[in-house]
Amino acid sequence: MNPHSTSHYDVLSRAFHWLTAIAVTVAFILGPGGFGRLMQQGVDPATHSDIVWHESLGILVFVLTVLRLVWLAFRPAAPQIAMAGWMHLASKLAHGVLWVLLLALPTTGLLALGSEGHPLTLLGGVRVDQMPFIANSAIASLADWGDVHQLLGDVIMWLAGVHAAAAIFHHVVLKDGVLASMLPQVGRR
Ligand code: HEM
Ligand code: HEM
Repeated sequence: MNPHSTSHYDVLSRAFHWLTAIAVTVAFILGPGGFGRLMQQGVDPATHSDIVWHESLGILVFVLTVLRLVWLAFRPAAPQIAMAGWMHLASKLAHGVLWVLLLALPTTGLLALGSEGHPLTLLGGVRVDQMPFIANSAIASLADWGDVHQLLGDVIMWLAGVHAAAAIFHHVVLKDGVLASMLPQVGRR
């Protein structure tokens, strides 16, 4: 390891990482199956707490990801752990795709609601009934955004699963400190 590098991500990067991982996983578990069809039948999403939580957590993921990307530009250098070139490249690629998905999921969720004229319903009674900037834009009719959103939801969970398995492989087999770099610093002052 380079003598100037640290063994751990800074506290804020670790907090962002785990808050995001929890919010994405719970949003996925609450994924409102068949919800698009229910709304087309006139069901008000505000009456379904799983939908309200799903959308609120998804918006939280978006806010956290934007703040986290800003922090990325200013934060202390990330740990540099020696590993094979292909492994380093694979991890950079996986992180890159995860970053894109963290932004694409909330975006396609909003496109799904806006393009079909359904309300966005969040915790605390926050409600946006019409999103004309989406409904009236050319993007709205480019795809079935509900289908795209569902597909991306599955992709992020598969990729996060492979990413987590890789972190555990680093810990158990390679014993190189990659997993520890994202965990609390134990026994340090
Ligand atoms: C990290 C964030 C998110 C993840 C992982 C996620 C994942 C999913 C998944 C897997 C489904 C499909 C559920 C099923 O059919 O079994 C779904 C449906 C849906 N989600 Fe999300 N979602 C996220 C954020 C959002 C946000 C922010 C919104 C709204 C602003 C949203 C709105 C919807 C809607 C409207 C559907 C129903 C689509 C349809 O059936 O046409 N989601 N989501
Ligand atoms: C939905 C779940 C998850 C998402 C979206 C996600 C996303 C990410 C992203 C974007 C990074 C780069 C972070 C940065 O540069 O600050 C990262 C790093 C990392 N994640 Fe996750 N992660 C998830 C779950 C997990 C889980 C469950 C584990 C462990 C079992 C884990 C272990 C790690 C580790 C060790 C790093 C640092 C890797 C390195 O420096 O090469 N992640 N993750």
